[in-house]
Amino acid sequence: MKHRLEIETMGKMKVAGPQYANGEITISGSKNSALPILAATILTDEKVILHNIPNLADVNTMIEILENTGKKVTWENSTLVIEKGEEKINSILPYGPVRKMRASFNVLGPLTIRNGYAKVALPGGCSIGVRPVNFHLEGLKKLGIESKIEHGYTNSKFTENNHQKKIHISLPFPSVGATEHLITTAVMLKDTETILTNCAQEPEIVDLCNFLISMGARIEGQGSSNIKIYGTDRLYGTEYTIIPDRIEAGTYAILGAILGGKVTLNNVIEDHLFSLLDIFEKLGIHYEFKNNTLIVSGISKMELTPVDVETSTFPGFPTDLQPQLMVLLSLIPGRSSITENVFKTRFNHVDELNRMGAKIFVESNTAIITGVTKLSGAPLEATDLRASAALLIAALAAEGETVINNVDHIFRGYEKLFDKLEKLNLSVEYFE
Ligand code: UD1
Repeated sequence: MKHRLEIETMGKMKVAGPQYANGEITISGSKNSALPILAATILTDEKVILHNIPNLADVNTMIEILENTGKKVTWENSTLVIEKGEEKINSILPYGPVRKMRASFNVLGPLTIRNGYAKVALPGGCSIGVRPVNFHLEGLKKLGIESKIEHGYTNSKFTENNHQKKIHISLPFPSVGATEHLITTAVMLKDTETILTNCAQEPEIVDLCNFLISMGARIEGQGSSNIKIYGTDRLYGTEYTIIPDRIEAGTYAILGAILGGKVTLNNVIEDHLFSLLDIFEKLGIHYEFKNNTLIVSGISKMELTPVDVETSTFPGFPTDLQPQLMVLLSLIPGRSSITENVFKTRFNHVDELNRMGAKIFVESNTAIITGVTKLSGAPLEATDLRASAALLIAALAAEGETVINNVDHIFRGYEKLFDKLEKLNLSVEYFE
């Protein structure tokens, strides 16, 4: 089956359940590392070679943005080569591609530093609640970038601050995007030391910093809540390999716990999944980790114990696995709960799971889940990337036929989805 790389049409998936998963797959490169790293390639005119890049709709949107800045981008299997185009870098971007995806906003700072000005659309992204960019804009202002929002665009100007050589920015919340955007901008402030506090500690931040260091940037403290950046005016070409996608790995691990059999996942970093493994242990799910391979075995849900989970920033349990975990908890006897602390209204999937017979009740930012013995197939609406993954897992577990409408969100985050499902002995039908 053809894998979709655009999300222009809202396709449907038809799933006949219940199905049992058995097999082995290799986890792709991380989408959430690839996107900020691709945005950071704007910082140099030299050649950058990136390995382990997932071929996903969001990555292709970021490539379109880079091409709009004048870069030449070429795919060679899972490697991307990014080179300087014919012209000077362009920092006035068309509305469409940036509007499509939130991570695209990360190009604003680097473009403004390079040209002294930039015009970039306010970003869109998955509909998982209000997603402001105030932390980005307030932080950029401290770095010398003033922005005005006009007609859906952010117009920004950079004024070099010759007297302030040390800048402190304390984020109101450890935002992943704002941390990445500010690091990617501060690395190019010559002779300036930027100290970012209360910043995000996600593995994707560490990956971005390691990439920037490989370009010649000076950064300390990545992976902690205080990061120091010593700016320079020149960064160089590099060759770099991106980390595996912990959210893709977590999704297939949860799928394995619900539908296995035995599901073997290669190319998984254990340290990136501690919070999920901790929950697996509390629930009583069998798993094994050996040399970057995670094996998850499904067992009777009747033997599992309910849990109370809270999402939080890394190393806490990721919000991006919350909908998928909710499917598992829906099938475990007793009362579980999930409190969503990152995107407090991220519960679009709840009504759809209830349509399948789940018993989930949302109060404020907590979902109270009373386990049921089975789910039943139903017509469903997918609203965002991770909700789509959760509904797909639920459909595979449910008795009877499920049709998931608007399912194309899923192609933003799951590379070679149909190949991987097939390798796990699972079958779905896809319609445009
Ligand atoms: C990134 C991830 C996304 C993940 C999220 C949280 C990418 C491409 N996306 O999104 O998959 O779900 O981290 O782990 O890496 N906030 C503000 N103002 C801001 C910025 C954020 O109020 O300027 C709030 C958000 O509304 C949200 C919280 O901070 O409630 C966290 O958002 P943030 O960490 O910025 O998420 P993203 O970077 O958009």
